[in-house]
Amino acid sequence: MARRAAAGLLRRLGPLACEPQARGMSPTHYGTKNHGFSRFYLIQGRHHLYGSRTNVETDDTRQSAHMNFEVQKRSFSSAAAHIQRNPTYSVLNSNDVSYFKSVLGESSVVQDEDRVAVANVDWMGKYKGSSQLLLLPKSTTEVSKILSYCNSRRLAVVPQGGNTGLVGGSVPVHDEVIISLGGMNNIISFDNVNGILTCEAGCVLENLSSFVENKGFIMPLDLGAKGSCHIGGNISTNAGGLRFIRYGSLHGNVLGLEVVLANGTVLDMLTTLRKDNTGYDLKHLFIGSEGSLGVVTKVAILTPAKLPSTNVAFLSCNDYMSCQKLLLAAKRSLGEIVSAFEFMDRHCIDLAMKYLEGVQNPLPASPYNFYVLIETTGSDESYDKAKLEAFLLRSMEDGLVADGVIAQDISQASNFWRIREGISEASVKVGAVYKYDLSIPVEKLYDIVEEMRSRVGGMGEVLGYGHLGDGNLHLNILSSKYSDKILEQIEPFVYEWTSNQRGSISAEHGLGVMKAEKIHYSKSSEAVQLMGSIKKLLDPNSILNPYKVLPQSVL
Ligand code: FAD
Ligand code: MLT
Ligand code: ZN
Repeated sequence: MARRAAAGLLRRLGPLACEPQARGMSPTHYGTKNHGFSRFYLIQGRHHLYGSRTNVETDDTRQSAHMNFEVQKRSFSSAAAHIQRNPTYSVLNSNDVSYFKSVLGESSVVQDEDRVAVANVDWMGKYKGSSQLLLLPKSTTEVSKILSYCNSRRLAVVPQGGNTGLVGGSVPVHDEVIISLGGMNNIISFDNVNGILTCEAGCVLENLSSFVENKGFIMPLDLGAKGSCHIGGNISTNAGGLRFIRYGSLHGNVLGLEVVLANGTVLDMLTTLRKDNTGYDLKHLFIGSEGSLGVVTKVAILTPAKLPSTNVAFLSCNDYMSCQKLLLAAKRSLGEIVSAFEFMDRHCIDLAMKYLEGVQNPLPASPYNFYVLIETTGSDESYDKAKLEAFLLRSMEDGLVADGVIAQDISQASNFWRIREGISEASVKVGAVYKYDLSIPVEKLYDIVEEMRSRVGGMGEVLGYGHLGDGNLHLNILSSKYSDKILEQIEPFVYEWTSNQRGSISAEHGLGVMKAEKIHYSKSSEAVQLMGSIKKLLDPNSILNPYKVLPQSVL
């Protein structure tokens, strides 16, 4: 009865009560007869939404990223392009290769040009190293032997996970040896009572998700790159992603780590305890240190229970202020069931529709300026639905939401998510992407997008999207080619502006090579000095991921 009343009201309030066919949607997907109202639809339950649809690491995509780089590299002026090789590092020789073969076996020491070339280039095709060697260890002992040897020889190395990082941290700058963790992908144990997963660092996030879902749990993080990124890479970048709003940072969810230090020492911190205040909690040093302090080899992580009821709404708003108010209203009214609150501007939607195959705009092609995706996850299907419907109804009455749909099945929900998660994939198809990942107070978050748009003018297209619920803006500037003229309009302005707001120049992607020299925009010189001291203590020969994370001046 209550639902019928809500449905009636929703129909009345929807400003554009067009029929599904008019929106170009299949009536079987969006048929009004299903629920008797035309604007909001309900998902019937969700099992595995994210799937491998954004599996970004196929050989084809890597190859095309590589080719893309070939096209772009002459005109791209990245920080990496200007970094001098540190002459104190040794140059790889045939004795080194023989040693690695004796430890790892022939097949795990890769010199094949094509295979090494793929590992030399990042996912965007933007950063490219010139390593001659890719190592594929299969155990912690092998990682330890590699590092101990490299340290004594002063051979620089880059730890590499799924190579989906967006700041050039996962590929060499010069000739560093690449250590890929992909061969260390065993699940070690799962504690069914407490939901604690222990596994090797090279496990692909999506595989872990499937594994724990079968046991009635979920991973506390999810991101568009889940089909390729590794849990070790996630931990090393302290990845945020789409569930951060609900389950928080990996600093809270990671219970234990095993890490190999630069000199080969294995640091066993692989506890599965929730509480442990015995001395300094050293694992936190390695969460988010981007492979600059050690190589993560094993992980113990807390996985939340999988809840049965999920709803996904795709909404449009007329202005940014409405998105902001909607966020506050969602926190107040939906409270504990909100599991994602993502936003995109109109430019993102246009880009997704242009470049992502098979994706449909769930809303009429219209002049809406902003779009919000809200996901709720809870334990009571009818309560959750009623709560979401009532919230959306109120939001429409209050003028915060202009139009919207609720997915009524998994494929619709998948389509909504595909739009949001596919923005980065669509962006790289344009050619050149200048990518910024900022933490800014929500009230100010869209100001910089608008300012950037006027600075860049016709030279590029400016997109604003991100994890609004976490105050995390992704600011992308797209153009067909990299050019110094565009870069001059963007930097240092973007860093100065963010710093003036006391924001962060890296909310979740890390610093990598892109922003190693920019850390002072977000951290005090005392803090950066202390970071330098920690780096020197743990890696005195500076063999781990050189030129990344910290400015050269403190090393
Ligand atoms: P890599 O890219 O291989 O490496 C990243 C960094 O970690 C490098 O510095 C590398 O040296 C280091 N590293 C990797 N493995 C280890 C290890 N075992 N030990 C020590 N150091 C290691 N990021 C987010 O935070 N949120 C998102 O929502 C998000 N969405 C994305 C969507 C797409 C389509 C793409 C392409 C990327 C996205 N990212 C996102 C960025 C990226 O996926 C994450 O940073 C991810 O955590 C990187 O994992 P990886 O295994 O690919 O690591
Ligand atoms: C996202 O949220 O989509 C990711 O962090 C990737 C990106 O910013 O491109
Ligand atoms: Zn993100």
